Amino acid sequence: MNRTHSDVLIVRVLRRERSQRVPVWLMRQAGRYLPEYRRLRDQAASILDLFYTPELAVEATLQPIRRFELDAAILFSDILVVPHALGQEVQFWAGDGPVLTPLRSIADLPRLTDSGFHDRLAPVYEAASVVKGCLPTGTALIGFAGSPWTVATYMVEGGTSRDFVRVKGWAASDPIGFRQLIDRLVTATAKHLIAQIRAGADLVQLFDTHAGVLPEEAFRSLVVRPTRAIVQMVRDACPGVPVIGFPRGAGVMYGEYAAETGVDGVGIDSVVPLSWAAGVLQPLVAVQGSLDPAWLVAGGSAMRVATANILKELGNGPLIFNLGHGVLPATPPEHVSELISMIRSSS
Ligand code: CP3
Repeated sequence: MNRTHSDVLIVRVLRRERSQRVPVWLMRQAGRYLPEYRRLRDQAASILDLFYTPELAVEATLQPIRRFELDAAILFSDILVVPHALGQEVQFWAGDGPVLTPLRSIADLPRLTDSGFHDRLAPVYEAASVVKGCLPTGTALIGFAGSPWTVATYMVEGGTSRDFVRVKGWAASDPIGFRQLIDRLVTATAKHLIAQIRAGADLVQLFDTHAGVLPEEAFRSLVVRPTRAIVQMVRDACPGVPVIGFPRGAGVMYGEYAAETGVDGVGIDSVVPLSWAAGVLQPLVAVQGSLDPAWLVAGGSAMRVATANILKELGNGPLIFNLGHGVLPATPPEHVSELISMIRSSS
């Protein structure tokens, strides 16, 4: 299958080709801020059913596409389907975030298994191929996964964490054992991304939500090195399909990340100075970002000024407009419409 000629706008920007306007999509563009999503969710027994029932996942993926003029759909799934497919117990309790039966040391690694991996994820790939067939021409389909470090934080902490003491404790006290977990996730993550591409994804994004909590050397070994390995595996299997990396909170380490992982695009969070991103990152990669999600909740002139500023500072280089993190549940959908028309009419 030759997928190297996908010419949707986002892919062209990631290849650093000239484009007429700035493409836009929003992290977590499906979800609780949409009343139609809340209705869909009420029909499912659990969120895992939404992730694993192709009709429901397809519907959730398409909801924001019907409402807004977005340049991409992101497959409705979650970063925690990878540990789930490796046999770890994962549950989502409404409002409280995910709960996993934690892995605390190398002695727990044999609990992970590859045997059910593809079967458990097959509905995700089926949803991707159905969505691909429903999307308007020119709208990209984005596949995604969590990066090994961020997924490992959930696997070891057993859920969301404030201080990451357990996962950092394992990484610090047994670096060789912890690397086995990371390497296991490198292989599983690459497999998952490649399968989404084969099912129809035009590009993929690696979410590294917790990249910013690591000191320099740990950032290199637990974020940069595994990301580079995944990018290489995706390139070898699917040449020409772009990869965006989102190492949230990486600060000045964004520079090394952009230079050394091989990603085509880097998602920046709202704290990264725009002129720095233009000078240091855009010569190396396309930049995606970075409106503060709270500005989208607020709307009004503050949102318009912040958006115009991003377009001015980053619009001369390769830019994909997005938020600095996911859409917040309190976001009024009308603010999203206004944001998107502003970006669409800016060039
Ligand atoms: O529209 C989209 O962006 C696609 C779907 C998507 C979900 N999760 C669905 C979801 C994506 C891209 C994700 C990524 C994800 N999941 C990340 C990385 C991005 C980020 O926000 O930092 C992380 C860390 C997770 C793990 C996760 N999943 C948490 C911590 C939670 C609970 C808190 C929360 O954000 O609601 C989830 C649940 C989850 N994943 C929901 C959705 C729509 C909420 C489900 C619900 O309550 O209906």
